[in-house]
Amino acid sequence: MSGNLIIKNASELVTCSAFAAKRGRAMSNLGIIADGAVVIEQGRISRVGPTAEVMTDLEASGGDLSLFETIDASGKAVLPGFVDSHTHLVFGGDRAEEYAWRLKGDSYMDILQRGGGILSTVAATRSASFQELTDAGLKRLDSMLSFGVTTVEGKSGYGLDRATEIKQLEVMADLNRLHPLDVVPTFMGAHAVPPEYKGREDDYIDFLLKEVVPEVAGRQLAEFCDVFCEKNVFSVEQSRRLLTGAAQSGLKPKLHADEIVRLGGAELGAEIGAVSADHLLNASDEGLRAMATAGVVATLLPATAFSLREPYARGRFMIDAGCAVALATDFNPGSCFSESVPLVAALAALYMNLSPEEIVTALTINGAAALDRAQMIGSIDPGKQGDVVILENPSYRFIPYHLGVSTVEKVIKRGTLVFNKLDQGE
Ligand code: NIG
Ligand code: FE
Repeated sequence: MSGNLIIKNASELVTCSAFAAKRGRAMSNLGIIADGAVVIEQGRISRVGPTAEVMTDLEASGGDLSLFETIDASGKAVLPGFVDSHTHLVFGGDRAEEYAWRLKGDSYMDILQRGGGILSTVAATRSASFQELTDAGLKRLDSMLSFGVTTVEGKSGYGLDRATEIKQLEVMADLNRLHPLDVVPTFMGAHAVPPEYKGREDDYIDFLLKEVVPEVAGRQLAEFCDVFCEKNVFSVEQSRRLLTGAAQSGLKPKLHADEIVRLGGAELGAEIGAVSADHLLNASDEGLRAMATAGVVATLLPATAFSLREPYARGRFMIDAGCAVALATDFNPGSCFSESVPLVAALAALYMNLSPEEIVTALTINGAAALDRAQMIGSIDPGKQGDVVILENPSYRFIPYHLGVSTVEKVIKRGTLVFNKLDQGE
């Protein structure tokens, strides 16, 4: 029966057990069970423990084993599905040419200032059909799934007008229906200043609050509101006004904070109680400490720093200061055209000095917390959704160690096998 699954004999069952973000030192605790088993019934995790105990209990309680698929995970580590909590996965066109310009020395922000960058993807997304965006989105989700991602956040923000912002969010709703991966939508109408509003940023924020946010919230097209709080994009004041206004309509706040310039985005995230503040390459000590106190998840995107050749966010400092750190890909056509979880893991290990344990926490329960879903996903705990990955290796330590190469052999979504590396190429 679909959704009923037993995974047993795992060399390491890495539970990441928790129902809220793990902060600071707690990020090192993975709740590992040696020779572990997990039982999923009707898509939900029902039992977790050492294999011998779980199997005895299941039989003693009258469980009919013939109703379950069984996977023997001998010699393999089993973890919660990864949560990629920051991506821009629905867009038209590509920016391969811009990448070549950047290699020659053009800066990301200069390209945006002269009407390229995000704005060139805006033009391509406005002219793309619903079907084209959906087809491209499905391929990207397939790739993400192969990396062990079972829940992904996706942002609008390549429309910057009412119709295209709504189109992007509707595409995400369709992707969520059509693909096994769960897609969590974020409204990011304030991703850049559209050409029509150049020099009138405040008017654009008014427009978003009056004309777009009510429809997005009313039709439940998004769960979060995000903003690019950055020099020459949206100021701290404009970001505050948008996020607090959108929160009144029920969209929970997130922000792109202190990515290129230290503007005070981390401080703003703490002040308004954002669910997460993301990037943080240039965040101040005070801003990061305020985030730790306020319980704002610090979402770090090392593949973006790598791709932009910028210094990495200070992940080590953040964890030592008591922050909850999440890691995500930031998959988008410009600053980081990569959906690779192993690349993110390797960069976090080598350039942010995160331990393998902290990296796993950042990709699972803390990613879930960055999407306000720590009660539902992100760990292998009874009651949670049955989203699980099985590695081809005996330990989670292989995730950052196998540089840029996926260690994921199987992906299970709500108790059903949805990806198997061993079937590929048949
Ligand atoms: O997270 N900084 C703004 N937004 C994205 C990049 C989007 C793009 O370049 O298309 C980011 O880096
Ligand atoms: Fe981003």
